[in-house]
Amino acid sequence: MPGSPVPSKLTLPASFKWGVSTAAYQIEGAVAEDGRGPSIWDLFGRQAGRIANGDTGDVACDHYHRYKEDVALMRRLGAQVYRFSVAWPRVLPQGRGQANSLGLDFYDRLIDEVLRSGIEPWLCLYHWDLPQALDDLGGWQNRDIALWFADYAALIARRYGDRVRHFATFNEPNVCTLFGYGMGWNAPGIANRRSFLQAAHHVNLAHGEAVRTLRTTAPGALLGAIYNRQACLPISSAPQDAVAAGILDACWNRLYADPQCLAEYPPELAEGLQEFVQPGDMARIAQPIDWLGLNHYCPIYARADPGPLGFAWADAPTDVPLTGVGWRIDPEAFRNEIIGTHRRYKLPVYITENGYGAHETLDAAGGVNDPGRIAYFATYLKALEEAAASGADVRGYFLWSILDNLEWGAGFASRFGIVYVDYATQKRVPKASFDWFAELIRAQQK
Ligand code: NOJ
Repeated sequence: MPGSPVPSKLTLPASFKWGVSTAAYQIEGAVAEDGRGPSIWDLFGRQAGRIANGDTGDVACDHYHRYKEDVALMRRLGAQVYRFSVAWPRVLPQGRGQANSLGLDFYDRLIDEVLRSGIEPWLCLYHWDLPQALDDLGGWQNRDIALWFADYAALIARRYGDRVRHFATFNEPNVCTLFGYGMGWNAPGIANRRSFLQAAHHVNLAHGEAVRTLRTTAPGALLGAIYNRQACLPISSAPQDAVAAGILDACWNRLYADPQCLAEYPPELAEGLQEFVQPGDMARIAQPIDWLGLNHYCPIYARADPGPLGFAWADAPTDVPLTGVGWRIDPEAFRNEIIGTHRRYKLPVYITENGYGAHETLDAAGGVNDPGRIAYFATYLKALEEAAASGADVRGYFLWSILDNLEWGAGFASRFGIVYVDYATQKRVPKASFDWFAELIRAQQK
């Protein structure tokens, strides 16, 4: 790898864990196999213009059939943790009621394979693929979903709690509610402030109910929640843009972690939430958890907007370093976010996602040389080391992602993997960053 920074040993606690993350809908495929029910993403992907290039998760990385090959890649990488999600509609096709034993069997096989490979499975209950049957009842806008989710959590804990020690409730509740109900970019495609706040409150309730249930169904498990947290910056020096960035910060960074970990809602949103919050709700939401997952990529931008949300999303400016998909490269923001998150919530932090997206193709030699991704990892890991040195309790780093996969609305063209996936053949081709990362993990063990 000429020109790539050579991985060195970082100053981190000896018990620091290295791993990789994925999500069910982005990799599994097999959407109509072995009794899986439809999810909101299956229907969303069938609507014209929702996912770039008309892509869908129907086959994705065909991980459902190729999981052994994928776990072998993780082992070759030297990963110590594999964080994955269970597809709720695969195990409960109607979202509640009758469980699907063939769907449950799949995660048995996966977990056993992961354990056989010497890797710890970390299970996330919700990475956005809501059963369509529940969406038909209002989805996250229906308050009853908190109990449906807790029942689902209990099923999962009873089945896998003997082998899985780390459970997370939600992955990025901000993205699935703000983009799904507030801005209409993600499934189920609703753009309405009231729906967004309603869904957000019910997600928070569901988190609390699930934690409470998991404490009894999986005693001894370590329970966490995974938040996407990024600095929210105004796109210009105009005062209105600064106000917009503050509102985005409340919606993006505080609307979930604050009630769940600090038992309070951001004051900016209290009025809008009032309609949905019932007496006793905050106590149900704020169940103590054991660890916090931080997904971090880059600062995000807001501009003033007369619409009901009070802000509009803005693309990163072009005069800053950008990844191959136009996201700002800013390792200092990563360092500050780790320090700030640990200070605010006082929980052990695991980086449950961080990575670099690009539009890539195989080169003439049949490989992918990705120095931009390697440089990104190198500088972000330096920032993580600095955060740890300044006292932040950061205990692991699970990159996004082992494989290229379906990047939601951006489709397959946006590639975040350290392994290239040829979707026509399902061939996996480790990129230069895979070898670099394997070397990095090895260097930590010296
Ligand atoms: C956030 C999400 O959790 C994951 O699903 C997504 O693919 C990556 N970050 C990259 O956008």
